[in-house]
Amino acid sequence: MDPIRNPYAPGAGQRPPELAGRDEQLAAFEVVLERVAKRRPERSLILTGLRGVGKTVLLNALRSSAVRAGWGTGKLEARPDQLLRRPLSSALHTAVRELGHPPSRSAQSDDVTHVLGVIKSFAQRDAGPNAKLRDRWNPGIDAPAVRGRADSGDIEIDLVELLSDVGGLASDIGKGVAIFVDEMQDLGPDDVSALCAACHEISQASLPVIVVGAGLPHLPSVLSASKSYSERLFHYQRIDRLDRTAADRALSAPAKEEDAEFTPEALEAMFAATGGYPYFIQAYGKEVWELAPRSPVTADDVAVAAPAAQNELAVGFFGSRYDRATPGEREYLRAMADAAEQQADADSVPTAAVASLLGRTPQSLSPARDTLMKKGLIYSGERGRIAFTVPHFGRYLREQHDST
Ligand SMILES: Nc1ncnc2c1ncn2[C@@H]1O[C@H](COP(=O)(O)OP(=O)(O)OP(=O)(O)O)[C@@H](O)[C@H]1O
Ligand SMILES: [Mg+2]
Repeated sequence: MDPIRNPYAPGAGQRPPELAGRDEQLAAFEVVLERVAKRRPERSLILTGLRGVGKTVLLNALRSSAVRAGWGTGKLEARPDQLLRRPLSSALHTAVRELGHPPSRSAQSDDVTHVLGVIKSFAQRDAGPNAKLRDRWNPGIDAPAVRGRADSGDIEIDLVELLSDVGGLASDIGKGVAIFVDEMQDLGPDDVSALCAACHEISQASLPVIVVGAGLPHLPSVLSASKSYSERLFHYQRIDRLDRTAADRALSAPAKEEDAEFTPEALEAMFAATGGYPYFIQAYGKEVWELAPRSPVTADDVAVAAPAAQNELAVGFFGSRYDRATPGEREYLRAMADAAEQQADADSVPTAAVASLLGRTPQSLSPARDTLMKKGLIYSGERGRIAFTVPHFGRYLREQHDST
C-alpha cells in the first residue's frame, strides 16, 4: 500500500499514531493533576516496564496533559555517570518559565525571577564551591543567582530547598509543576536519595509539585534501597504489553484514518507475531503496510511481511542493543538465553544457572553482569536472579547464534 501514507512508527520515543490501551493511566493522571491543584495529598508517579512497551511515549502524553491543565512542566533523561544537577535545573527552568507566562502581575514576575535565581545557584554549584566564575556552568538562566539558597553542595539539602521554592511559587500562582524523569534507574545513588527526600518534603508541605518517573522494572527496588519510605512516597504503575483489544486498536485505528483495514484473521496473526508489545506492533504494522498489495490486509500479507518485520526489529530494536555489549558480555547474554530456554523461557533465570552453563563461578562473572546492568540490557528484580530488559531478547540471541 502507499508507503507515503504508512502511519506506523517504530522507534524509541516515537509517538504512535494511536496511543492504545493507556486510557486508565491517562485518566488516573488527570485525577492526580486535579487533586494536587486542590492541595490534596497525592503521591508522585513511577511507570516501570521492559524496553519498548511505551514508557517514554506515555510519559510524553502525561506531560501534554499537565501542559493542557496549565501546569509548568520539564523533562529530563537520566544517564549513568551523569549528575542530576544540570539536567534537573534545565527541566525546572523550563517549568518555571511556563509557569511565569504570561506574567500577569509585576509582583508575580519578581517571584519568578527569584526562583529562577535559586535554580541558577543550584545549577552553578555543579562546578564545586571554589570554582572560578568562568568555570561555572552557565545554565542560560536570565536572572541573577540567589547565593546561599540550594547551593550548599549537599544535593539532598539543595534539592529540598529548590523544590520547596519552586513549589511555593507554583502554589502562589495557583498552578502546579510536574517534572518528568525518563530512564530514572540510571540516576546515581546520591541523586536518587535526594530526589526521594525532596518528594517527601514537598508532599508533607502539600506543595503542588510532582515527579513522574519512568524506568526499567527494577526501578522500585532502586528507590527503596535508597529510602525505605519510598514505597509510600510513589505510586507504581507497571506498563506492559497491550491486550488483544488494545493491540487491535493500535493497528486498526491508524489504518482507518487512511481508509484501510485489517481482516479479523490478519489481526489475529499480528497479535500472535507481536505478543502485544508496542514496539513490535509498530514494526510489524510498518512492514505489513509496505508489502500488502491492497486493503484489507490479510493473514497471508502478515506471513509475507514477517521476515521483513523481524529484520527491522533485528536492526532497530535488538541489534542496536546487542552492539553495545563487549564479547565477554555477549557470551553472558547468550548463556542467559540458553538458561531461559531450559526453563521454558522463564522471565528471569538464576545467576548460578548462567555461571554453570559457562563453567565459571558466579563471582568471576559479576563484572560482566554489572556492566550489562549498567548498560540497561539486563536487570535483577530479585536477589540471585536476572532477566533481559528487552522482550524476546533470548529468542533473538538464540536465532542469531543458530545462524552463525
Ligand atoms: N500505547 C501504545 N500504542 C501503540 N504503540 C505504542 C504505544 N506505546 C508505545 N508505542 C510504540 O512503541 C514504541 C516504543 O515506545 P517507547 O519508546 O515509548 O518505549 P519505552 O518503553 O520508552 O522503551 P525504552 O525502554 O527502550 O526506552 C514506539 O514505536 C511507539 O510508537
Ligand atoms: Mg524510553
